[in-house]
Amino acid sequence: MSKISNICCIGAGYVGGPTMAVIALKCPDIKVTVVDINQDRINAWNEDNLDNLPVYEPGLNDVIKKARGRNLFFSTNVDKAIDEAEIIFIAVNTPTKTYGEGKGQAADLKYVELCARQIAKVAKSDKIVVEKSTLPVRTAEAVQTILETSSNSVHFEVLSNPEFLAEGTAIQDLFKSDRVLIGGEQTQKGKEAIEKLVAIYANWISKEKIYTTNIWSSELSKLVANAFLAQRISSINSISALCEATEANVNEVATAIGMDSRIGSKFLKSSVGFGGSCFQKDILNLVYIAKSLGLDEVSEYWLQVIKINNYQKERFAKKIMKSLYGTVSGKKITLLGWAFKKDTNDTRESAAIYIADLLIENGADIFVYDPKVNKHQMLSDLDYLNSRSSAENKNSLTYCDEPYIACQDSHAIAVITEWDEFKSFDWERIYQSMMKPEKVFDGRNILDVKSLEKIGFEVYSIGK
Ligand SMILES: NC(=O)c1ccc[n+]([C@@H]2O[C@H](COP(=O)([O-])OP(=O)(O)OC[C@H]3O[C@@H](n4cnc5c(N)ncnc54)[C@H](O)[C@@H]3O)[C@@H](O)[C@H]2O)c1
Repeated sequence: MSKISNICCIGAGYVGGPTMAVIALKCPDIKVTVVDINQDRINAWNEDNLDNLPVYEPGLNDVIKKARGRNLFFSTNVDKAIDEAEIIFIAVNTPTKTYGEGKGQAADLKYVELCARQIAKVAKSDKIVVEKSTLPVRTAEAVQTILETSSNSVHFEVLSNPEFLAEGTAIQDLFKSDRVLIGGEQTQKGKEAIEKLVAIYANWISKEKIYTTNIWSSELSKLVANAFLAQRISSINSISALCEATEANVNEVATAIGMDSRIGSKFLKSSVGFGGSCFQKDILNLVYIAKSLGLDEVSEYWLQVIKINNYQKERFAKKIMKSLYGTVSGKKITLLGWAFKKDTNDTRESAAIYIADLLIENGADIFVYDPKVNKHQMLSDLDYLNSRSSAENKNSLTYCDEPYIACQDSHAIAVITEWDEFKSFDWERIYQSMMKPEKVFDGRNILDVKSLEKIGFEVYSIGK
């Protein structure tokens, strides 16, 4: 079996960038080219100053420093990279459809389809095409059909190799994956293609952790993994509401149930709600697929995970309003954090956007501090919701690059992202600068409530 020496990845985003950087680092004999149509993104990946990379991930700079220019390249020349590669990863975005059939639930596959068409047009030799993007089950069939429209007589073998990294810990997740999943056709050629991809990962992942399946199981497993993870968050968040009504403490309940090895302790942290580009999108996709197959009960079951998540975000914003005597009109509210979780600059579907939106709708002046998100991103996130004009959003949201200024004269502070640095703020100083009574709403349960109460704060924690 010939060894792979040239890989191309279409899509230089949060998945394509870090995954390919790690493959290049671990496989110095393979040339890895990551291509994108977004020139700004590629320029940022090629920046000399590694602090300006388009994706913030702990440890990523180091990997880029070692591999970039050696066997890792970022380019906008998509055709050249496709032509030269033996394996082509498709890692483009697959957002929820915003138009037509399946609007609001189905995955929009137009970017994946464009990639398949481009590969079909450009390829002059046999290729292994790998679905790295998260895709609805049976997408490989469509990709294969499009590839076969190629007028060049070349063979395409389609594999599914979904990505399980979590933003914020992407590099560690890629170095020490719980598992690598590879699905392919169970034909001779399919098995050979699977083996070639296995051989790449085997450079640093032990063979027992590389699980090969049929292609449909692989595609579906990614959606199911995200659905199960999000379900745990919604489950504990639903219980947080019950705790608040009964004086039970959600942290204690989570610890108590997590000690049962059948339940396990991970992913049981109650919060203001999950965000990120994947959980909601992938569950909605699952909901849509189930409904399309006439499995209404299955579809309804998973939809509840999203409903509870929306409920949790709304509940938090309403809690702030209620505690401020029923009105936030003209009041300064400070949000600490805008990213959907710590250690990432990704803000897609962040709870912050929805909470800010609701508070602004009720007349609040929002001030935000986030160590990794800039003003432009915050405003464009709000604009994307389309609740009001850009000018109104600009008037209602103030970006602060200094947390103490963000908190000064504030009527309430809400912790939205669990950034570690928030825990070591000078809370005494913040207390002195706020409007009375000084209120903190800890949407992540990360602050030391006792010491804040000792200072004089009124603290609201989730589920207590
Ligand atoms: N972000 C995550 O944590 C994560 C984790 C696992 C899986 N996924 C999945 O991986 C896929 C990519 O996610 P992401 O977060 O990296 O998205 P992203 O939006 O950060 O990146 C996608 C990139 O693809 C580029 N692109 C789109 N069409 C293109 C084309 N025809 N040619 C060249 N480039 C093109 C875009 O310009 C963009 O830069 C999605 O399907 C997502 O569900 C994401």
